[in-house]
Amino acid sequence: MPVRLRLRAPWLTFVSKSGERSKNVEIVVKGNVIPMRTFLLITIILGSSHALAVCAFNIEVGDGLTFSMKEMNISNDCEEITVTLKHTGNLGKSVMGHNWVLSRASDVAELAQKGIAAGLDNDYLPADDQRIIAATKIIGSGEETNISFDPSILSSNEKYIYFCSFPGHSFVMKGTLSVI
Ligand code: CO
Repeated sequence: MPVRLRLRAPWLTFVSKSGERSKNVEIVVKGNVIPMRTFLLITIILGSSHALAVCAFNIEVGDGLTFSMKEMNISNDCEEITVTLKHTGNLGKSVMGHNWVLSRASDVAELAQKGIAAGLDNDYLPADDQRIIAATKIIGSGEETNISFDPSILSSNEKYIYFCSFPGHSFVMKGTLSVI
C-alpha cells in the first residue's frame, strides 16, 4: 500500500538511513519526517474509511432549477439509501415546487409528461407507475422531506436519472445516479 501511494503522490519520498535497507526507513510527507509505523497506521485508517459506503444524501433545492448535487454514487453495501430534500428558497411549492424522483434514464421524459397531467395534488407524478423507483413529495420554501429505498433493486449496468417532476423542470433539473 505505501508503494502505491508513492506512485500517486509526488510529495511523498522514502528515505533510507545509512545504507540499512529494511530498518530505519523514514517517510517524508511535505517536508515532515514520519516514522514508518505511524505512516502505515495512517494509511490503514485512510484505506478503510474509503470502503465505508455513503448511504444518506442531503440535497438542497431553492428558487432555481438545480439540485445542489449533480451526481450520486450509490453503494450496494447500503441496506437502504435515504435522500433528504430541503427547499432553501423563498418561493412556495405551487410556484417553485421541487421533488426528487428516481427512474431509469429512458423513462424520465414520459414520467415527467404524465406528471404534468397528474397535477400538484399528486406531486406531479402518475399514480402507481412502476417506472418510478423512488420519489419524494413536492416541497416549497422552508420545507424538507425524505425518501428511502433499497439499492439492491438497482443495476450497475443501468443509467439512472433523478429529476424534478414539477412542470417544465425535468429538462434541466436533474442529475445522474450510478451504482458503484
Ligand atoms: Co423543481
